[in-house]
Amino acid sequence: MIPDDVIDEVRARADIVDIIGEIVPLKKAGREFKANCPFHEERTPSFYVVPDKGFYKCFGCGKSGSVFDFVMEHLGMDFVEAVKHVAGRSGVEVREVKRSRPEDDPNRTLFEINAFAQSWFREQLLADGGASARTYLEGRGITADVAERYGLGYAPDEWRAFREAALKHGFDEDDMLELGLLKRSDKTPEPYDGYRGRVMFPIEGVSGKVIGFGGRILEGGGREGPKYINSPETRIYHKGENLYGLSWAKNVIRREEVAILVEGYMDVVSLAAAGFEHVVAPLGTAVTAQQAKLLGRYCTRVLLLFDSDSAGLRATFKAGDALLEEGLHPAVVTLPPGEDPDTLVRSAGRDGLKALLDDAVDVLDRKLQILEERDHFSSIERTRSAVDRLLPTLRAAKDPALRDIYVDRVAERTGVRRETLEAEMAKARPSGTHVRGGPPPRPGPLLRRRAPRRGAELQLLKVMVRGVEWVERAAELISPEDFDDPYHRAIFLLLLDAPETRAPPATMDPVAAQRFEEILADPEELAHGIEVFTNSVNRIRVSALDRRIQDLQRQIVAAAEHDAKLELMAEKSRLASELRELDPSYWASAARLRHSNDSNPNDPNR
Ligand code: UTP
Ligand code: MN
Repeated sequence: MIPDDVIDEVRARADIVDIIGEIVPLKKAGREFKANCPFHEERTPSFYVVPDKGFYKCFGCGKSGSVFDFVMEHLGMDFVEAVKHVAGRSGVEVREVKRSRPEDDPNRTLFEINAFAQSWFREQLLADGGASARTYLEGRGITADVAERYGLGYAPDEWRAFREAALKHGFDEDDMLELGLLKRSDKTPEPYDGYRGRVMFPIEGVSGKVIGFGGRILEGGGREGPKYINSPETRIYHKGENLYGLSWAKNVIRREEVAILVEGYMDVVSLAAAGFEHVVAPLGTAVTAQQAKLLGRYCTRVLLLFDSDSAGLRATFKAGDALLEEGLHPAVVTLPPGEDPDTLVRSAGRDGLKALLDDAVDVLDRKLQILEERDHFSSIERTRSAVDRLLPTLRAAKDPALRDIYVDRVAERTGVRRETLEAEMAKARPSGTHVRGGPPPRPGPLLRRRAPRRGAELQLLKVMVRGVEWVERAAELISPEDFDDPYHRAIFLLLLDAPETRAPPATMDPVAAQRFEEILADPEELAHGIEVFTNSVNRIRVSALDRRIQDLQRQIVAAAEHDAKLELMAEKSRLASELRELDPSYWASAARLRHSNDSNPNDPNR
């Protein structure tokens, strides 16, 4: 069976229009889609799909249901098969567990505790003791309505009020410690409340279950400590895989066909109070590929609404590249100096913000504007360095049409020929699973090390085209993300899918296609293919690990919160020991390199 929360997640992430549209040609009709009903004969369409609600209905034959019902009915699958089918098309990994009853879901109690905590915090906000928190929220323009919609609550400034209530309810202390709702210190053996004297923002997964909390300190409360305390990563809470606000915003995002991305909880809620409901925020870390993918299920256009100071700009372009890599189209909203989204709607109102949103500028154009403002096109040398700063964004753009436009734009602005730009883009560190906004190609050690890494990828592919058995072996040891070069990755994926392919398919990216032809023309013929194979697999794994470690290092530097830092460091050291095991000699050179990687090409101040 499949755990309930996974089913919920599949349901929430599934694009019913995509899935039904694969089978029935759907036409857009307002907010809905219609077609001739696949379940009975008809000449005029009475079969409707309602994406906002996630169901279909035929007004002719009366058949209706969820995306799962459709798949079961039309493809003759049982429920579990249908969930897997839909999951496969929705980017959700489904692991079946051998359990017979939903109440045995191992995560069930954690969800129950969070649900209890959310309603308890909520009661405290509404009770007499919550007066100061209510005043605080009102003072920030958050009405009672909006507070209710977002489930906001209050953790009273007491050491063990929550603990007592929860224990009375029969919840297990260890579970609450795991969730961060309770904490323990050396000084006091009795666990105490993890959130005290704070406004509580419940964080919902996309399906609407509470997976974690953010707690903001009350200003003027006299309490010390970090501004926000956030839930730790748990079995049910993965910061990098969720977006704050999405469960509330997703239908509006789909309807408006655009999302607004802001920095944090307060911005989401205060924009909602001003009537902007299609707003989401990452959860205290940089925007990840998974978050971009998740958002991409609901819209393509994303407005980046961060502070306009240099840290905000850095965050903006970093998020921009992450979104571009998942095929989204980010645009930058520019706030007046010193404002953040929350202060802006409060001073300029709904219309003031609306006007700024309407002026949003495509992320690449914004980069060009900034470079221009800073006089980066006045000399050959400065133009040359501007190109380096633009390359990560060019590379990140995965949507082929957008990429084309970008290359044109940059060619026009810098006077560098299209072909040259494309060659530069294909060269050196391309986008991928790593180093979002990472360093631009530099001469020197970086390039020297990259060459053999690419060589290993090429060599492995040359072995793989020897025969299906090599493809199977490689598939066991290497995953597509391990490839640094996106063209190599595309070829790898193609071979996994169809191991006997001996010509690039027409749909393949032209650069990848050409690379594939070169590989086919010059396969690895050595009798001892196994040595070449093992060697290249090892080298690919080493460099994939190294990239992940560097990425973690960047996240550690950027992490605002102590707990988050610790987790990232633990993960980093786990990967580091894995890496040392694979390649003991590797260590010294890697450390030296990492040193030269620290600056950020997205920082226009650089
Ligand atoms: P901000 O400091 O801009 O907070 O941090 P904010 O949400 O705008 O809050 P106000 O307006 O001062 O009340 C932006 C985001 O960074 C994370 C939170 O997600 C926050 O919303 N953050 C910040 C933390 O996780 N911990 C912190 O201590 C500070
Ligand atoms: Mn703020």
